Amino acid sequence: MAAASAVYQEILNPCLSIEGRCRLQGVLKVSGAKNSALVLMTAGLLTDEVVELTNVPNLTDIDSMGRILSALGVHVDHSDNSIALNAATLSSHEPPYELVNSLRASFFCIGSLLGRSGHARVPLPGGCRIGARPVVEHIRGLKALGAHVSVEHGIVTASVKGSNKRLTGASIVLDCPSVGATETLLMAAVLADGTTMIENAAQEPEVQDLSNLLIQMGAEISGAGGPVITIRGVERLHGVRNYPVIPDRIEAGTFLLAAAITRSPMRVEPVIPEHLSAVLQKLRDCGCKLDIDQTGISITPGEIQAVDITTQPFPGFPTDLQAPFMALMTTAKGTSVISEKIYENRLQHVAELQRMGASIRVESSTAIIEGVIELSAAPVIGSDLRAAAAMVLAGLAANGTTKVSGLEHLDRGYDNVEAKLNAVGANLKRQQS
Ligand code: EPZ
Repeated sequence: MAAASAVYQEILNPCLSIEGRCRLQGVLKVSGAKNSALVLMTAGLLTDEVVELTNVPNLTDIDSMGRILSALGVHVDHSDNSIALNAATLSSHEPPYELVNSLRASFFCIGSLLGRSGHARVPLPGGCRIGARPVVEHIRGLKALGAHVSVEHGIVTASVKGSNKRLTGASIVLDCPSVGATETLLMAAVLADGTTMIENAAQEPEVQDLSNLLIQMGAEISGAGGPVITIRGVERLHGVRNYPVIPDRIEAGTFLLAAAITRSPMRVEPVIPEHLSAVLQKLRDCGCKLDIDQTGISITPGEIQAVDITTQPFPGFPTDLQAPFMALMTTAKGTSVISEKIYENRLQHVAELQRMGASIRVESSTAIIEGVIELSAAPVIGSDLRAAAAMVLAGLAANGTTKVSGLEHLDRGYDNVEAKLNAVGANLKRQQS
């Protein structure tokens, strides 16, 4: 029986086989931002006209969000890298549990559903391996806007009383600069009666991208990208054609780190440099020369020195690049200290890097990394999206052939990563592990 289940697991567990000690050359192309495209899709619920997004990445999360919106009655036309959403036929305010549970960003549609129709029943997003990921800030803010919100049996039910079912503008101070809460409340406030102010708002580029789309739809918003966002509610929003999703700063950072860990001079484009300032500074500090122009970044790695990282809300160092940066630090000269301050459990990639010969010890949510000369290839698992990316980077540099499983995570956030890396000289093959 055990043998049969092992074979079964073999069939079920595809992996990426990665030839190590590789040298990359050329240009790595960056797709549209996953964490922007997902929330922009939920903004389509706010109007009965067509909202068309371009530069949308091909990711399993995008497909999942499309299924969720279709289940609500939205017409979703997804072709190549564009998506046209028409919520004129919105017929439900309750996304199905089995779809929401796998995609945290779908919870954010509670804001747009409330704004559009005055009610929403959305399953609580599951916590995940990296932390509990509560939605307290979302709920507090929706209550401040006049919604009645209850949580029972894992379902958040929100509704607006009164004949016009319209939320009321309010002043909200977030306890923490939550990206999702800021996005949820932005979408709830744009059609509210009156003015809303969100203080201690998240400043991430994805929040700015959402605000820019909403403004093009007719919303009146100022301050997005800063700590205080002011929204003057309007009566209705209209559609938008050809709205381009911003480039994915986390994919761009991952590719810059691929160049650094293989000591390969490369170019990464498109990149909006100010979306990655903290990361670019750390790349310079650890010995990489960067040439930045209007369309992208050329990186020339030198001898990589150890540097310290502490993850922070934007504009600080992004938590989503903590694991990929740690992969680079495993073969840096000296000792680096990496502190994860955003999530309570986002150091699971340490054990996998140790299997490849990295010298790391963990104290609470801090990792201390002693650089080694070279990693050695081993079969490893990516436990979440960014940990999987870190293992791919480690495999590119390691001595031997590394097998990375956990591709279901990788495919959520990286659009065709093996084709992009193989196009610049890597040798990655998807196979059964
Ligand atoms: C977004 O998640 C991103 N996901 C995450 O990317 C990213 O890591 C995170 O922002 C931080 O930058 C999407 O945009 C789909 P948060 P979100 O609410 O909105 C705590 C990836 O790999 N918190 O800013 O869920 C929370 O527990 C993913 O692409 C509260 O305490 O992040 C966490 O520790 C992973 N109470 C911290 O704030 C709340 O009510 C950041 O969470 C909400 C959050």
